[in-house]
Amino acid sequence: MKVAPLSKRQEPGLNRLLREYWETRGMRYSAAYTRRYLREGHRIEILGDRFFVAVDGQEVIGCASVVFQEPEVAELRDLFVRPAWRNRGVANQLLLASVAACRTRKVRKVFALVFPEVADLYRAHGFREEGRLRSHFARGEDLLIVARFLRT
Ligand SMILES: CC(C)(COP(=O)(O)OP(=O)(O)OC[C@H]1O[C@@H](n2cnc3c(N)ncnc32)[C@H](O)[C@@H]1OP(=O)(O)O)[C@@H](O)C(=O)NCCC(=O)NCCS
Repeated sequence: MKVAPLSKRQEPGLNRLLREYWETRGMRYSAAYTRRYLREGHRIEILGDRFFVAVDGQEVIGCASVVFQEPEVAELRDLFVRPAWRNRGVANQLLLASVAACRTRKVRKVFALVFPEVADLYRAHGFREEGRLRSHFARGEDLLIVARFLRT
């Protein structure tokens, strides 16, 4: 037995192995999809992005984004409101729009990595804490994983 980086020769074997593995988890993907997955990588699991802005006249005062991912999950990212506009419900509106976009795309579960001090904002939108990532994007900066099921 040896472990080696994937070579072209092993692609068909890995294609079969991955589909066998996914099937044990109730997920069925075609050989063609798996071939694309092995050639183009995990980026094909990103099905789309949606950016939202909050505007006052012509000025952009807040933003949020949604990354739709295979299989039927989405990540909320980039929630930010300009300091002068905080505590007036702008983030609430951005979150409502983001979650509504997830419903439209038939997302089953939506999640976000959030600062612990902001988690209450997400809790108020039905998100529950599912874990903690320590020193994740920056040293000393922990993030909570919060998620909400839109359907079971
Ligand atoms: C967090 C942030 C997006 C909130 O924006 P906002 O427009 O001020 O939020 P809202 O006015 O819509 O407030 C929504 C609710 O969250 C609460 N909240 C807002 N900011 C909060 C904060 N920093 N900590 C805890 N609760 C907060 C509000 O009290 C409000 O509760 P309510 O609906 O019961 O009154 C904004 O402070 C920000 O841009 N912070 C810097 C970037 C950041 O932390 N982004 C989040 C990454 S996870």
